[in-house]
Amino acid sequence: MTQYTIALLEGDGIGPEIAREAVKVFKLVEERNDVAFDLRPAPFGAQAYFDCGHPFPDETKAICDAADAIIKGPIGLSHEESKKIPVDMQPERGALLPLRRRYNTFANFRPVSLPRALAHFSPLKPEIIGDGIDLVMVRELVGGLYFGEKEVGVNEAGLRYVKEVLEYDEEQIRRVLHEALQLSMRRKKVLHNIHKSNVLKSSVLWNEVLEEVAQEYPEVEIRHILVDAAATLLCLNPGQFDVMVMENMFGDILSDQGGGILGSLGLMPSACKGPDKSYYEPSHGSAPDIAGQNIANPYSMIGSVAMMLEDSFGMAQESKNVWAAMQSVFGAGFSTPDLSKPGSGVKMINTDEFGDRVVEALAGMPKAG
Ligand code: IPM
Ligand code: MG
Repeated sequence: MTQYTIALLEGDGIGPEIAREAVKVFKLVEERNDVAFDLRPAPFGAQAYFDCGHPFPDETKAICDAADAIIKGPIGLSHEESKKIPVDMQPERGALLPLRRRYNTFANFRPVSLPRALAHFSPLKPEIIGDGIDLVMVRELVGGLYFGEKEVGVNEAGLRYVKEVLEYDEEQIRRVLHEALQLSMRRKKVLHNIHKSNVLKSSVLWNEVLEEVAQEYPEVEIRHILVDAAATLLCLNPGQFDVMVMENMFGDILSDQGGGILGSLGLMPSACKGPDKSYYEPSHGSAPDIAGQNIANPYSMIGSVAMMLEDSFGMAQESKNVWAAMQSVFGAGFSTPDLSKPGSGVKMINTDEFGDRVVEALAGMPKAG
């Protein structure tokens, strides 16, 4: 039996309730496979600050260091609650970015997937959705503006100013491009390179490095698109994209648009890959307005489990089964109140019932050899 240790960071807001459903999936996967998961819960986020004095406490760091992989719920509180936390201790700056830096999770994979069973969630017209949307955004996650030097002050003219540095070296660019090109090789062998080289020197270097790296993948067709144009094309013709690669800030913005064309950020799980360890997280926030009401869909959290099974533990077939189980619940006409309005023709169920139905569907699937 293979044994894996998993750090479980439930996070804030709806985090704990969607994490509970993810745990149900881990438990069933254990039962169905020759594998054991040692789940180690640890505090992380705004609540961790209030309970432990730090949003990424030392005990959590130790648990994450010892884990084979990390699953993390959304973090953050309402605007009002956040104001009670000193700026540098707020969970984005005080926990999430340090987590990314600690494990050097340079490649962030954000699937934007709209199979037929989910098509009714999308705001796009059926003729634009066509056979469905199935693309992956690969976002550089530990460089660029997010991690560059920052300076604030008053300039010689007496005006408050700010300076934030967008910095990449060629190795940081190269390693994420390799990831995107390798993913393209496993998919349709088309890579959309998202850049802004008409203005930014960082994109000029990015594109130069891509030209070099792409020579190692002669089968992959590279298509270059400016980031602003890509935003438009994601709405007008998402079916043309398969793998898209981009720097950190572009990826933050475009991946939220990915959630928009699906109909909800609640449909966006993700994987953040580092050289030694990966962590997995929903791409959305902690939705404090609906927290504790048992109405948030756990898709992004369970999808993150599916990504972990495949990427960290090599359980590709069981991962596919988890995706299929979730789709079968939507396909049977069920939805949760955060995704669908009453009267929209869906059979409304709660967070825990959605999880139960996913588990039931998974239990009915053939086990992987
Ligand atoms: C994301 C989020 C984070 C980011 C925030 C919470 C710091 O928006 O993962 O996309 O900007 O990277
Ligand atoms: Mg974001």
